[in-house]
Amino acid sequence: MMSHLRRDSLPDGKAVGADSGANPDGLIVLRHGERVWAWLNICPHQGRMLNYAPGKFLQTDAGNIMCAAHGAVFDRYTGACIAGPCKGDRLKPVAVNTDGHGGLHFKVTDAAADSTVAPTVETES
Ligand code: FES
Repeated sequence: MMSHLRRDSLPDGKAVGADSGANPDGLIVLRHGERVWAWLNICPHQGRMLNYAPGKFLQTDAGNIMCAAHGAVFDRYTGACIAGPCKGDRLKPVAVNTDGHGGLHFKVTDAAADSTVAPTVETES
């Protein structure tokens, strides 16, 4: 699962859609400072995509990600659903790696899927 996003092209704190290979908005990607998190864009409530328009996601004042379908709210760092109809469930994390030039690569692994915390990789400078 690949994308051609660059870390320095991501707005700080704002969730954006990214290509999963099968779906142009198949991933949710969020950068905060030097770190980048990614999840599958599949709501654990009813399996819908969370975005309200191509590449665009609702976020609460605290920056957490809100599903546009029924308002489930997901912690922006862990992907855990903290409010709404699937509270206690979580988004499926996607591993994020950077190449030496700031390009981002995403990979869904079994380990990532089983993780209780979205895996992140510290990016090299
Ligand atoms: S499908 Fe996301 S809250 Fe219902």
